[in-house]
Amino acid sequence: MTCSKLLTGAALASLISVAAYAHSGATGVVKERMDGMDAMKASMKLLAPMMQGQTPYDAAVVREEAQTIQTHAGEVLTGLFPKGTDGHPSDAKPEIWADWEGFADLALRLETYSQGLALAAENGLMMAGAEGTGMMSSGAMMGATAMGAGGMMGGQTMGGPRSAEALQQMPADAVFTMLSQTCSACHTRFRKE
Ligand code: HEC
Repeated sequence: MTCSKLLTGAALASLISVAAYAHSGATGVVKERMDGMDAMKASMKLLAPMMQGQTPYDAAVVREEAQTIQTHAGEVLTGLFPKGTDGHPSDAKPEIWADWEGFADLALRLETYSQGLALAAENGLMMAGAEGTGMMSSGAMMGATAMGAGGMMGGQTMGGPRSAEALQQMPADAVFTMLSQTCSACHTRFRKE
């Protein structure tokens, strides 16, 4: 638990640092993808304190923001990176087109995880119900099972469940952690500092 919270915090810090950049002069598809990324950042900023128990958990909000992220992920995301659109004012690295499969895989993960988060919204946080009900242990067990199945299906870079249906069994904050790690993983590989 502590571990997943730490990871979420670290991932979030790296996302927020991105906000410091000002992108004057971006137009067309570059502007469009920056706007999409900014929209996802806004969703993540709203959800992060909720996932850490700092603001009240609201399943409807989680579902809504997860769906917002989903609309910017997958093929929508990759479609906004036509070849040769790196260079000023973009922070896109040329590695995107040298390793298109790796890039597209992360975009697809983002779609799967955001879809999974919307489905898992009702599950609430891992710690919810820890006082008494026993909800937590059954939730944790289901999560562990989903993890095992996902591991067998084999994600190369990060492991974990690769289907929204498996994610649906997990606590929302666990899915959120995977989601935010996907943002960071792609930025580390494919976005300039
Ligand atoms: C598949 C790769 C990939 C994923 C996944 C991804 N990003 Fe990005 N992101 C990029 C790239 C590449 C850029 C640089 C785009 C450019 O400058 O042309 C970027 C830029 C950004 C920016 C800066 C936008 C601006 O105004 O310049 C923010 C904020 C951002 N991403 C947030 C996020 C968040 C939040 C997530 C996860 C919910 C996420 N990204 C997931 C690849 C990704």
